[in-house]
Amino acid sequence: MPAELPRHRVRELISSEAIQRRVAELAAQIDRDYRGSRDLVVIGVLKGAVPFFATLVQRLDLPVLVDFFQTASYGAGTNAGEIRIKRDIDLAIRGRDVLLVEDIVDTGWTLRTILDLFRFRGARSVKLCALLDKHEARETEVPIDYCGFRIGREFVVGFGLDYAERYRNLPYIGVIEFIDEKEAPS
Ligand code: IMP
Ligand code: MG
Repeated sequence: MPAELPRHRVRELISSEAIQRRVAELAAQIDRDYRGSRDLVVIGVLKGAVPFFATLVQRLDLPVLVDFFQTASYGAGTNAGEIRIKRDIDLAIRGRDVLLVEDIVDTGWTLRTILDLFRFRGARSVKLCALLDKHEARETEVPIDYCGFRIGREFVVGFGLDYAERYRNLPYIGVIEFIDEKEAPS
């Protein structure tokens, strides 16, 4: 365990097999829904969505274009919903169908902002595919068109999700459990 972090363990919540099965189901549904669509642009949100994105696009039979987008929030003390673009997409999306792929929807502010931006740029349609939905934490409404799993308020890692940049490489989703409760981050 990294020495500089509070003492914790990772408890498996969603197995690698369950993730793979669910992603195959989502891909089949996306293939059906976009049949006949030309130039679907699948956009992954860096960095957390990378494993989910890679697994999903390999399962699609549709011809797709892929791209990446990265955001960062401003420092502590700024308003929720103020999202900075760290890396913009390369492709033009005007008149095209866009499918945004994200690891988790928590408060919803990040996704709200990105979805609005892509609509503003004139995409023909903009839909959201998220591996995890932390529904009880939502502060702004974000409809998830393709959702992998609904989870509770617990902090999760793995399959792209991080705790202080650790654990993104785990093939499963786990919950962080702090060994000394007093040290849990707010
Ligand atoms: P939102 O804007 O609050 O919906 O934040 C979404 C982002 O917060 C995600 O893309 C993740 O990077 C991060 N996040 C939210 N919940 C978790 C979690 O349980 N584990 C790891 N990262 C999380
Ligand atoms: Mg993220």
